[in-house]
Amino acid sequence: MIEAVRWSPSGDAVRIIDQRVLPGEYVERDLRMLEEVRDAIATLAVRGAPAIGVAGAMGLVASLEAHVEEPADRFLDRLRAHAAAIRATRPTAVNLPWAIDRMLATANRAHERSPRALLDSLRAEATAILEEDRQMCRRIGEHGESLIAERARVLTHCNAGALATGGIGTALAPVYVAAERGRTVAVYADETRPLLQGSRLTAWELARAGIPVTVLTDGMAASLMRTGAVDLCIVGADRIAANGDTANKIGSYALAVVARHHGVPFYVAAPSSTIDPAVPDGDSIVIEQRAADEVRRSFGTLTAPADVAVYNPAFDVTPAALITAFVTDRGIVRAPYDFRAWNDAGGRR
Ligand code: MRU
Repeated sequence: MIEAVRWSPSGDAVRIIDQRVLPGEYVERDLRMLEEVRDAIATLAVRGAPAIGVAGAMGLVASLEAHVEEPADRFLDRLRAHAAAIRATRPTAVNLPWAIDRMLATANRAHERSPRALLDSLRAEATAILEEDRQMCRRIGEHGESLIAERARVLTHCNAGALATGGIGTALAPVYVAAERGRTVAVYADETRPLLQGSRLTAWELARAGIPVTVLTDGMAASLMRTGAVDLCIVGADRIAANGDTANKIGSYALAVVARHHGVPFYVAAPSSTIDPAVPDGDSIVIEQRAADEVRRSFGTLTAPADVAVYNPAFDVTPAALITAFVTDRGIVRAPYDFRAWNDAGGRR
């Protein structure tokens, strides 16, 4: 299985698969310095809500390794500054602040130790975050595979697979588990404009796993559903509000509207770490706006007039009313949604 984020063999760096260059090239990169970690997250070398949480926590540890000989006070100040810098890299996925807050809670418990001992505690916490993510993905797969009948045709958007997590993915986890159990499953992968996570990443990882996959451009999903060729949609999530409104990759909302029109179930698969009980509804979710040139110069080619105005939100919000059910590590959750009591133990806010 793909390991999107892990420790380097010597343990001093976060090893990621560089998702900017897939599927043309397979490159692994080791992140050590704070700026390397921030740049990798900001430029989507490592991406997907769970993966950026894991990479943020592990990257915090790696970025502090070179400073472990500093006096304890200075080291603690640095720790807090690095945590704040990593946390601010991308605003929408709650997994990133969730993971960083867990790291800060660990630091608060261990702040009287030497920098070396403190860093050891932080490393153990980051490793636990990675391991828990792996287990949550597996449980999402096991709960969700019951939704996938023999010969099911699944439509997904963006990449919420192994590349986006520490484990087997969220939206793709039920597909992987159903396939593991001998079922034939076919996946339609929306291309996912403008950064093509669907065609570059989802298609790559499914093909590598031997699961039949067909790519379509985002605007083709409606007509595909109209032909009756889609049994269910499953997407991932970046932040789920207390009332179930869900931020995910731009285009997810359109897919949910079209799915409702055609009577196709629309599922959101996510770990508990993506639920934000502190946010009451989708209107309160901060949506990342990305650079205009991601649209005007797609992958370096001029694809619009060089100075044309561009609307480029990275995510949209699907209202809870359009979501058939959530597939979580704790089971399948159906309406009426109330996530206010989730994640209380996470120590966030
Ligand atoms: O901008 P990205 O590629 O990080 O966006 C990713 C998504 O929207 C995913 O669907 C979401 O993070 C869930 S990943 C398991």
